[in-house]
Amino acid sequence: MRGSGGEPALSAHELVKHYPGGRNRPAVRALRGVSLDVRAGETYGIVGESGCGKSTLARLLVGLEPPTSGSVEIGGQPVDVGPKVDRRALARRIQLVFQDPFSSLDPRLRVEQALAEVLQVHGLHVERRDARVAELLDMVALGRRFADRYPHELSGGQAQRVAIARALAAEPQVLVLDEPTSALDVSVRAEIMNLLVRIQDELGLSYLFISHDLSMVRHISDDIAVMYLGLVVEAGRFDQVLDSPLHPYTRALADAVPVPDPEVEEARRDSSAPTAHSVFVEPAQGCPYSPRCPLVEPICREIAPVLLGTGDGHVVSCHVASRDFGAKLSA
Ligand SMILES: Nc1ncnc2c1ncn2[C@@H]1O[C@H](COP(=O)(O)OP(=O)(O)OP(=O)(O)O)[C@@H](O)[C@H]1O
Ligand SMILES: [Mg+2]
Repeated sequence: MRGSGGEPALSAHELVKHYPGGRNRPAVRALRGVSLDVRAGETYGIVGESGCGKSTLARLLVGLEPPTSGSVEIGGQPVDVGPKVDRRALARRIQLVFQDPFSSLDPRLRVEQALAEVLQVHGLHVERRDARVAELLDMVALGRRFADRYPHELSGGQAQRVAIARALAAEPQVLVLDEPTSALDVSVRAEIMNLLVRIQDELGLSYLFISHDLSMVRHISDDIAVMYLGLVVEAGRFDQVLDSPLHPYTRALADAVPVPDPEVEEARRDSSAPTAHSVFVEPAQGCPYSPRCPLVEPICREIAPVLLGTGDGHVVSCHVASRDFGAKLSA
């Protein structure tokens, strides 16, 4: 399936999400025109630091919130993402797995009830519901003995397996995975990643995989988009973005991958390095990254760059990169 052409499994077109300000909150432009295509059977990785809009994008794609503007297509068919969205029909096509598995599990329902509930809502496997629940538990490599447990009797890793099984119960084509291992012990992260890869291969699913950690998405992604302050600043096939990053922010993210040598760590620390939480220095005009950019030039403070491509799918929004690669880049 990988690398095959054809209709994207999931497309977002110029998604914009503005949250109006309140008495104690400023207005937030969480997404400012995000477009992407997730190819069938592949994984599209989204990476960017805290607050750049990753979870907002996830919620819009699965219809939990309407966009301010923009549109979504699943399998080439437009999705009504507005207030009239048919949630049940949408849930059969796309499912979201959250960072905190316990947030998606009802503490009062045993595992088998949580899975059976989804089958019931969608009228699936009516005659063989127990058998299907057992299949779903097998799919996420949890023994049948887990069927009787309540969420509080599960470890974080076990709860995330149940949350994944619950997402699979609706038999969607696309899974949006919003930092699915970030809340888990380091020791079980690889297990969950391996499980996700195996499930994808078995079921031919398409994934949108969100992480703040470039080293996490590199192992699973076919395509990668780097987000900064509600915008995609660079995107392409994973080897294009990782092996020849064009945007200074992508380079800072790549450099921030932890290295064991403390001297190397120290040398790498500079003002452009990503922090755990964004320092939201948003300029009134020009490139949103310009206040932190080590390569900033006068034009960057005046005019916002747009995404330009090298013609082979690798796109970047940066005046300096566009000039350096000027011969190759075009709109
Ligand atoms: N319901 C909301 N109302 C107001 N502002 C919001 C709301 N949800 C998100 N935001 C704001 O939108 C921006 C993007 O938030 P979002 O949660 O999408 O970021 P994120 O990339 O998922 O961050 P993290 O890595 O911390 O999960 C942030 O500034 C956030 O404060
Ligand atoms: Mg988030």
